[in-house]
Amino acid sequence: MCGIIGYLSTEPGVSKKIIHNLKKLEYRGYDSSGICLLKNTKFFLKKSVGEIQNLEQKLKFDDNCTLGIAHTRWATHGKVSLKNTHPHLSQDKSWAVVHNGIIENYLELKSYLESHGITLSSETDTEIIPNLMATYDNADNIEKLKQVTCMLRGSYAICLLHKGEQAIYVARRHSPLYIAQNKTSCMVSSDPVTFGEDFDSYYALPDDCLAKVDLKDILVYDSNLNKINIRPCEIGSFEKSAELGKYNYYAEKEISEIPKVVEEILLNYNTVDHFKKINKEFMKNIKKIKLIGCGTAYHACLMGAKYIQKDAQIEAQAEIASEFRYSNPLIDQETLCIFLSQSGETADTLLSLELAKNMGAKTIAIVNVPYSSIARQADIVLPLCAGMEVAVMSTKAYNAMLTVLKLLSQHFRWLDGKPKNVDFSKLKKVNYFKSIDQIDEISDLVLKHEKIFFIGRAEDYVTALEAGLKLKEITYINCVSIPSGELKHGTLSLVDQKSLVFVIATDPDLVAKNLSSASEIKARGGKIVLVTNLDVKSCEDIDYLYKFDETEQALSSLLSVIPFQVLSYKTCVKLGFSPDKPRNLAKSVTVE
Ligand code: AGP
Ligand code: GLU
Repeated sequence: MCGIIGYLSTEPGVSKKIIHNLKKLEYRGYDSSGICLLKNTKFFLKKSVGEIQNLEQKLKFDDNCTLGIAHTRWATHGKVSLKNTHPHLSQDKSWAVVHNGIIENYLELKSYLESHGITLSSETDTEIIPNLMATYDNADNIEKLKQVTCMLRGSYAICLLHKGEQAIYVARRHSPLYIAQNKTSCMVSSDPVTFGEDFDSYYALPDDCLAKVDLKDILVYDSNLNKINIRPCEIGSFEKSAELGKYNYYAEKEISEIPKVVEEILLNYNTVDHFKKINKEFMKNIKKIKLIGCGTAYHACLMGAKYIQKDAQIEAQAEIASEFRYSNPLIDQETLCIFLSQSGETADTLLSLELAKNMGAKTIAIVNVPYSSIARQADIVLPLCAGMEVAVMSTKAYNAMLTVLKLLSQHFRWLDGKPKNVDFSKLKKVNYFKSIDQIDEISDLVLKHEKIFFIGRAEDYVTALEAGLKLKEITYINCVSIPSGELKHGTLSLVDQKSLVFVIATDPDLVAKNLSSASEIKARGGKIVLVTNLDVKSCEDIDYLYKFDETEQALSSLLSVIPFQVLSYKTCVKLGFSPDKPRNLAKSVTVE
């Protein structure tokens, strides 16, 4: 993960620009941050643990530098400390580096450097890179970079400065890196969202390529050092950074945007025929569908598999990307693999996509970030139209995934000659946040109980999983999500007077079974919150009835998750934690 910025300008005082843009990458990691400026021929370093504003405090002066690199870290190798914070310098102080990724053979390379009399001062895998650059004495720096990158195994996006040059050297393998240039400056960044204010276009550095960037040129080379031409990409509306506006946190803002996002998807898919290529020919020999993703996106995969099997009667299975890759998957030309990802950069999902393509499967990507690696590599892209999602806690992107998956399952049904049977226009009349004021009381209940459970059947079980992930992720409260029917096969032994159990019930055919599970819990002393949109009469087994707005049965999973997103948010704020930046996590998981 980690966010990288490199900035070169004709105007002195680059640190302000760098910090301003680094803050836009804070979603990628926020353990610690650092900056390295080139002053005459010496590097000037400042580092800080915690959020970038701590680093900013240390930079309250006018620098007269025109070149610098900076980094916001999500530690993989070496604890969170000043010593391990990037940028890192070579021992002879001739090279400075910031790095995103993992160098898998760093111990081997560390021994090699030690045998050349070099002692590393941090615990990171990164520090070997500037030192390897310094040990090569070839005349040309780009040649050195080629030699060094050939020695590296693993993934990296690196940005290097040499003490004697007004230029930025970059290289990438698997981790993203983008470059932009105008008449007075050039910038390197992990995400084009940083380019929106100052640039009209940018370049995506291709995988396994290197480049030298200065005010005159962007020289891009492949791994054999052949010069290559790459085409600029226009800055789209997505890349214009999301503003917080009147909200306290992005999580709050993004939850409130859910109705608008769903409306935007329905309008967009009505106007643009995104399903055009998913025609009879494309689906001709498809025998089964795999939906692949991580975390919240995986939960959307689980829901999507249920939609597809029910609506279109095609065998569909959800897979966790990091497991899928090591499961000897049985996929071929008769398999359709659908990849779900908000960021489009999740390493395990991206590598699963590459695997599926190599095995001959057809691929569709359902992604939010339009220029992402997953979007670029899939056969067909279905956009999520959710706008930028900044909070680490994914909310509106999940609802967007469910909406697109429902549209897709209906499309599959239609391709199979059956009429579509969901009326999306009903969503226009829905109050997405009905009874939301009650969530404060429920949040107090959560805080009063030691053990929290989420249970449901079928689609409601998927909502239970997502509800649990949201609560864990931002409140650090341990909880269990389990299918209602599985409780009595083990987990029920945990239930006692200290337990609060959320029973989710949106399917009229299953509500009686869910209420039996509630009785089983009640008999063991647990307290019950029933979350439903059905006309269920409160009974003595139910301690708290939470009713959200009714809609078509087929669309209720789009709404049932919202009370839980709000519950996690409210509980998190009550506990005094940041819902946007939970500890130990980052928004974009670009390492395996
Ligand atoms: C959700 O709240 C999480 N932060 C996380 O599970 C996330 O959904 C997962 O890392 C996948 O990310 P992606 O959608 O960008 O691929
Ligand atoms: N491996 C580097 C470190 O631990 C970079 C981390 C990353 O990009 O996730 O500092």
